[in-house]
Amino acid sequence: YGDPNQKIDYVFKVVLIGDSAVGKSQILARFARNEFSLDSKATIGVEFQTRTLVIEHKSVKAQIWDTAGQERYRAVTSAYYRGAVGAMLVYDITKRQTFDHIPRWLEELRGHADKNIVIILIGNKCDLENQRAVPTEDAKEFAQKEGLFFLETSALESTNVETAFTTVLTEIF
Ligand code: GTP
Ligand code: MG
Repeated sequence: YGDPNQKIDYVFKVVLIGDSAVGKSQILARFARNEFSLDSKATIGVEFQTRTLVIEHKSVKAQIWDTAGQERYRAVTSAYYRGAVGAMLVYDITKRQTFDHIPRWLEELRGHADKNIVIILIGNKCDLENQRAVPTEDAKEFAQKEGLFFLETSALESTNVETAFTTVLTEIF
C-alpha cells in the first residue's frame, strides 16, 4: 500500500456520500487498509483516509472523505465538498429506499461541488444477491441518464472496490 517516502505527483480529494448503513465506511476501510468489519459503527462527523497509488506512471495520493449518512451526524456540507474532484454516490442493493434517495444526494452534490467533479454511482453489498431489491438495470439506466459511472461492489468480498476507486481517479486525470 505505498512507500511512505515516495514522491507525490497529485493529491485528489474524493468524497463518499449516501444513506446511513449502505457501507461507505467499509468501502473506505477496504480500499485504504484492506480491512472489513461487520459491526461497523455509524460515522459521526467526518473522517478521512489516504492511500497512495500509481496511475499512469504518476503517484497519486487519494484523500477519501467519509461522513455520516444520518442527517444529525453530518459534517458541514460546504466544507465537505470543497476541493473534491471525485465523488462516490453509494446505495445498498438490498434496500430500495437507499437507491430512491440517490437523486437527492446527487442534487446536493451538484449544488455544492465543482461542476467538473467525476461521479460514480455504487450499488454496494452485491454479495447479498439473494436479498437484492434494486435491479442492476435500473441503476445502470439511471447512471446513463445522469452521466455517471456505475459499478456494483462488495466491501465484504472485496468485489470491485479497487476498480471503483481507480475508475474515478483515472478519470480525474
Ligand atoms: P453511516 O456511517 O451511518 O453513514 O453508514 P455507512 O454507510 O458508513 O455504513 P457502514 O460502512 O458502517 O456499514 C453498515 C453495515 O453494513 C455494517 O454492518 C457493515 O459491516 C455492513 N456492510 C458494509 N459493506 C458491506 C458489504 O459489502 N456486504 C455486506 N454483506 N455488508 C456490508
Ligand atoms: Mg460510515
